[in-house]
Amino acid sequence: MTNRSNLTQAKSNKNDEFYTQLIDIENELKHYKDHFKDKVVYCNADDPRVSNFFHYFSYNFEYLGLKKLITTCYQNQEMDLFSMHDRENAIALIYEGEKDNGRVPTVENIGVIELKGDGDFRSPEAIEFLKEADIVVTNPPFSLFREYVAQLVEYKKDFLIIGNFNSVTYKEVFPLIKEDKIWTGVSPRSMKFETPEGEIKTVNAKWFTNLDIKKRHEEMILYKKYNDDDYPEFDNCNAINVDKTNEIPMDYEGVMGVPITFLESYNPKQFEIVGITKTWDDFASKIYPRQIQVSSNGRKSEVTKLNDGGVIRLEKPPEKGTYYLVDDEIFIQKYARILIKNKKVVK
Ligand SMILES: C[S@@+](CC[C@H](N)C(=O)[O-])C[C@H]1O[C@@H](n2cnc3c(N)ncnc32)[C@H](O)[C@@H]1O
Repeated sequence: MTNRSNLTQAKSNKNDEFYTQLIDIENELKHYKDHFKDKVVYCNADDPRVSNFFHYFSYNFEYLGLKKLITTCYQNQEMDLFSMHDRENAIALIYEGEKDNGRVPTVENIGVIELKGDGDFRSPEAIEFLKEADIVVTNPPFSLFREYVAQLVEYKKDFLIIGNFNSVTYKEVFPLIKEDKIWTGVSPRSMKFETPEGEIKTVNAKWFTNLDIKKRHEEMILYKKYNDDDYPEFDNCNAINVDKTNEIPMDYEGVMGVPITFLESYNPKQFEIVGITKTWDDFASKIYPRQIQVSSNGRKSEVTKLNDGGVIRLEKPPEKGTYYLVDDEIFIQKYARILIKNKKVVK
């Protein structure tokens, strides 16, 4: 990985330059071995000279029984790449198994192909590779996550990718979660990535996939019973608020708003996802007029953000934290909530 910083200095969005550690790839991929036999794997945001995805799949090519490995990398044509590279264009690397008397493959002994375009995952060349692929596996540019996922769904590809966990609330991503077209992977949230400068950055990142995994069939053990003190109704949607995923009441039949971390334990046989409070998906039952926000330091300002989330009405102002006033009524707003129903209510 020595030339990583040179290779990446010129690339466009700095926030997209986070490199996945091999250990994180190994820890997640071990849960998917059966999916890879005889499959064409495509890593479409990966410079094979620096990507641990290329490293993982080329070293494990025989172990996984892969048919073909394709990686393409992105070179931003607008930047002055000549000053750092000996190549103008992006490259692709295609590996079809041992070619060097059983020796572990290197980029040099496999050989790279120069692309005509810039290797953008949306470019015609990349789309041709995508069509050929069975499974796409990578950590794509965070800034283009919406478009990236939409393309995978459009081309009906299997995938295992990394994204910022908060992207589950995006209006383009949440419907896919609700329709069971994408779900979370196995490894816990939060990952450490290497930056081009060699720093390690922790990001609230998560694996996302549409490949079946054992974890998705495990049921959450629920132990709490419903009561209206612990689980108040939202003022602006027909659901109760649940502050912690492990405190979902086992006996509640209606809609419950749970933290987005619920998605890490979601089993579609146990729960149904019906909506979300932040981007709403038509679930809000009322619109508030302008509100006065009272911050924890007592500062007051006029805002409209109360409509952006699930709201709880209070009898008196909270002891700490921000609250909102609409006429004489007092409200607090909860973080984004996934709206769910329990399919296996136990009374
Ligand atoms: C989060 S980094 C991850 C890199 C690599 N996949 C890894 O996991 O180590 C995302 C990569 O996507 C590349 N990229 C940015 N825009 C792209 C595009 N439009 N098409 C393909 N790749 C792109 C960036 O240069 C960056 O290297």
